[in-house]
Amino acid sequence: MRASTGAVPPSSAPYYRDRYWNELDAVNEHLQQRATGEPLTDWIGHLAAWHGRPFAKALVLNCGNGWVERALVDRGVVAEAVGVDIAPDLLAEAAAAAGARPLRYQQLDVNAAAFPETGYDLVVNHAAGHHISHIDRVFRALAALLGPDGVFVSWDYVGPHRNQYPGDMWEAAHAVNLELPDELRSPMHYPLLEEMLRGDPTEAIHSELVLDVMRRYFTIEHERALGGGIAYLVLTHNPAVLDRPQEETAPWVAQVLAHDAAFTDAAPERTLFAYVIARPRPDLDLDLLDRWAEEERDREAKAAADGGRYYPPTAVADAIAGERQRPLAPAEACRRAGMSLGRAVLRRLPPGVRNGVLRVYRG
Ligand SMILES: C[S@@+](CC[C@H](N)C(=O)[O-])C[C@H]1O[C@@H](n2cnc3c(N)ncnc32)[C@H](O)[C@@H]1O
Repeated sequence: MRASTGAVPPSSAPYYRDRYWNELDAVNEHLQQRATGEPLTDWIGHLAAWHGRPFAKALVLNCGNGWVERALVDRGVVAEAVGVDIAPDLLAEAAAAAGARPLRYQQLDVNAAAFPETGYDLVVNHAAGHHISHIDRVFRALAALLGPDGVFVSWDYVGPHRNQYPGDMWEAAHAVNLELPDELRSPMHYPLLEEMLRGDPTEAIHSELVLDVMRRYFTIEHERALGGGIAYLVLTHNPAVLDRPQEETAPWVAQVLAHDAAFTDAAPERTLFAYVIARPRPDLDLDLLDRWAEEERDREAKAAADGGRYYPPTAVADAIAGERQRPLAPAEACRRAGMSLGRAVLRRLPPGVRNGVLRVYRG
């Protein structure tokens, strides 16, 4: 494997260990309803119907333990596939589980390496794009690899960078969490940037760029905002719900999902997850390509020099980090975040306006 030029995970341990909202059948059905229009049709079934005939050969980006390509082959959606990933242990697991299926694997760092083989008519991004630092370089290479008739399918986290949720989203999720009975509430631990950087610096590294960069290189043919702004925050990492029998929690999970749908539909562009089917764009402006490549080089060089930080902390993260003892409860964190934001805005106003605002505020 070539030396990396981008962020790479220190280990594959977290990938299939953490507890996510989609352990719940109701969540899957909710997401599938939003993605495909049918609660019992998953993206693989939808992709197959959309395309109308099997794909010849798929490239599966950051394939992890290989379940995606096994499902694609077993269900007759693709004839053969190549999986690439950086983690040798996951690749070994995938290769062992492949059995006699026409699946091949290669270890590589997608940020730096060229993709193996050619002749693909499908590229699959399942929960992969949000781990890629050189997202422009990679999506550009994938579009070129596919050719004009190829298909790119993506089911990915496209929410805030490194899960640094904005205060209003965190607060809205917190309010829904409080509607649950005590024994089902989530501890709602805000994912502090330092912890994210220590655990896996690739986690959601450029998630908020995934859709925009995809649009640079692909024409979107099917796009659905799956949501998550409320339900992902309340149900993921929430053993109180995930460990109970689903029949017992069903009405409460349904309530959380109804809030989630309303929150997502009010502003679909803020969705945490998206399902997309796209085709490579035929019309690319060379000047833009150079500009985007340069932008990416600058962005990554600056972040590398700053310990992997791309943006200033969110107001919520700032407020929590300012608390020396225990992490603040979400409502208190948001209140403090609001105050610190207010102070920052005030500091930027001309002194005359600032004094006027303070006079009104103080009565
Ligand atoms: C969230 S997991 C998704 C795995 C799989 N696609 C799935 O849906 O189960 C992210 C994957 O990205 C891989 N990964 C992270 N950085 C990578 C890189 N620079 N090059 C290749 N793979 C990478 C990880 O090893 C991991 O398997």
